[in-house]
Amino acid sequence: MSAVEITNLSKTFRDFFGRRRVKALDGLSLSVEPGEVFGLLGPNGSGKSTTFKIAVGLLRASDGSVTIQGAKPGTLSARKATGFLPEDSTLLPFLTAHETLKLHGALAGLSRRDAATKSEELLERLDLKHAAKRRVKGFSKGMQRRLGIASVLIADPDVFILDEPTSGLDPLGAVGVKELIAELRGKGKAILISSHLLGELENVCDRVAFLNKGKLLKQGTLEELLREHEVHQLRVSPPTPEAVQALEALAREKGLQVLSSGAPMRSLEAFYLSVLGDRDNA
Ligand SMILES: Nc1ncnc2c1ncn2[C@@H]1O[C@H](COP(=O)(O)OP(=O)(O)O)[C@@H](O)[C@H]1O
Ligand SMILES: [Mg+2]
Repeated sequence: MSAVEITNLSKTFRDFFGRRRVKALDGLSLSVEPGEVFGLLGPNGSGKSTTFKIAVGLLRASDGSVTIQGAKPGTLSARKATGFLPEDSTLLPFLTAHETLKLHGALAGLSRRDAATKSEELLERLDLKHAAKRRVKGFSKGMQRRLGIASVLIADPDVFILDEPTSGLDPLGAVGVKELIAELRGKGKAILISSHLLGELENVCDRVAFLNKGKLLKQGTLEELLREHEVHQLRVSPPTPEAVQALEALAREKGLQVLSSGAPMRSLEAFYLSVLGDRDNA
């Protein structure tokens, strides 16, 4: 059984007078398996948040269906199985970070002691330990996002539905969240995440789907979608000019076209991490 099964999902929003206005989703189908990270990619307004809200029972579908571990959204078993991070984290401003997590722990049915212990672990894990006793009101956007993620984690659900989890985070924070998502996958959790930023999903998703105007344009594993089978890239070191020239000559002799040859560029993210990756220097 899939952790999340979305079948032919459609949603039309109506205006005040009941007239059909926006077709936010149009026949969307996808599934997420345990131990899989599935990324929903698409521009603003493509229907990502609408999909997630239907999947957690906050909105009703106009057509089609969603099941969470076989159960309908909004039922007790679906709610217990799912951890949802909304697009805008809704945190109570007058609670401290520690109190926020203890509250979410209590709501998830943990004992006082377990909630307190887990809360401390999560504050440490999400780099919020220094702010444990501070009120959420004064938190930066990134800190609020990390606390939002921690409050989803405290219930230890099987299915995570995370709407733009890295929005508002600096690159280091985003990498931290991506590592966390990879850890959850390792524990067999099913994770459905969305983003409108490509780089956010690249290193973390097993499969991605592209959504535009509520329609699914393409889906597949990153391997299927991104691997360029008609090209071969060889990285060698050190790049001594004679050896490189000889390699290029050999390639031509074998009838290959040399498409590129030279020192590769690191990604800006990789470089940023090499400069600021050490948290003590950050
Ligand atoms: N409550 C609502 N009432 C009317 N239209 C809505 C509502 N929520 C979303 N929409 C519309 O549905 C479309 C998809 O929105 P959304 O799911 O939020 O997109 P995304 O999360 O991909 O940015 C947009 O055109 C948006 O304006
Ligand atoms: Mg959205």
